[in-house]
Amino acid sequence: MHKIALLPGDGIGPEIVPQAVRVLEAVGKKFNLEFQFETALIGGAAYDATGHPLPEATLELCRRSDAILLGAVGGPKWDNLEPDLRPERGALLPLRKELGLYANLRPAAVNPALASASTLKEEIVSGLDIMIIRELTGGLYFGQKHREELPGGGQKAVETLEYSTGEIERVARLGFEMARKRNKRLMSVDKANVLESSRLWREVVQELAKEYPDVELNHMYVDNCAMQLVRNPKQFDVMVTENMFGDILTDLASQLTGSIGMLPSASIGGEVALYEPIHGSAPDIAGKNLANPIATILSAAMMLRVSFGLEEPAASIEGAVAKVLEQGYRTGDIMQPGQKQLGTVEMTEAILKALG
Ligand code: NAD
Ligand code: IPM
Ligand code: MN
Repeated sequence: MHKIALLPGDGIGPEIVPQAVRVLEAVGKKFNLEFQFETALIGGAAYDATGHPLPEATLELCRRSDAILLGAVGGPKWDNLEPDLRPERGALLPLRKELGLYANLRPAAVNPALASASTLKEEIVSGLDIMIIRELTGGLYFGQKHREELPGGGQKAVETLEYSTGEIERVARLGFEMARKRNKRLMSVDKANVLESSRLWREVVQELAKEYPDVELNHMYVDNCAMQLVRNPKQFDVMVTENMFGDILTDLASQLTGSIGMLPSASIGGEVALYEPIHGSAPDIAGKNLANPIATILSAAMMLRVSFGLEEPAASIEGAVAKVLEQGYRTGDIMQPGQKQLGTVEMTEAILKALG
């Protein structure tokens, strides 16, 4: 029995999470697995119902679950709340921090059927398979923040970018371990030509490399990395980087795969892991059955593999997704001229059918 906490959240979250649950239920039936789902409020939905975006009951459910599946949080309705009540800063970040989820695995792999759906030339992205590891509980997001009134008028806003040796080492170690299981190449991305935290990052990564002589380590500045991801993304195998650089580079990498609606993620490092698509609540398409559910469905597959060690069921979900893409099923974000557009629900139904 696997206990899964469901946190649909806001915007398209409540549309895509139930679709991933349908897929989990189908795979459960197929492989004789038992899942128990329990849903809790998070984000703007939680704020509206309880006055806080991360109610204690939600955190408590997460702590007693075996894994968590999250949709997305945030939206224009809550953008003007005081910062610590905003869904992003008041719920998502504290949830990651409280659960000790210091590493976020964001795999960007191009499905063969979608190589021509990328906005980049097909030969640039075809066969792409990279793993970006984003540090998730440090850096600018969690440093000290404050505002000051300036004597001459106006204000000053301050945030601090902080990383300790230990914080860097644990996520870098994961990068080396992951590279070892893949093509043995690790790219550490930093801004060591300017930032002190990046200088420490590079020192720690270099020191750790001594334990991994079989892994080829390279370093790249983040600005160059953004350019290289568009120029020649297949030069990368595993990438490890700090929190905000990873946030930005993974949205960029998602478009190489055709759409941000395709990229799943796993946040690990604590006792219970959290799975979520890398995209947000997409207010512009919410409530219209337009969202691509695949990033969330693939996040559920990552859950089966990473949290439960269920390789075959995970692969069967990924196989079903690959099959429907090959058959030409498309949501709007990955549609090309001449293809028929399916809704969130219809795309899921095609995947369920492909699962058998
Ligand atoms: P977004 O990722 O929500 O949307 C960016 C664009 O991608 C939009 O045009 C959207 O329609 C499209 N898109 C996203 N997911 C899609 C999907 N599954 N299928 C098809 N199209 C998809 O980013 P944003 O617009 O910058 O942010 C909207 C809100 O979401 C903000 O409040 C932001 O803070 C929040 N956000 C939350 C998370 C999270 O909960 N993990 C992540 C990112 C942004
Ligand atoms: C993501 C999002 C979040 C982040 C925001 C909503 C706090 O962009 O999960 O990528 O920056 O981590
Ligand atoms: Mn992001």
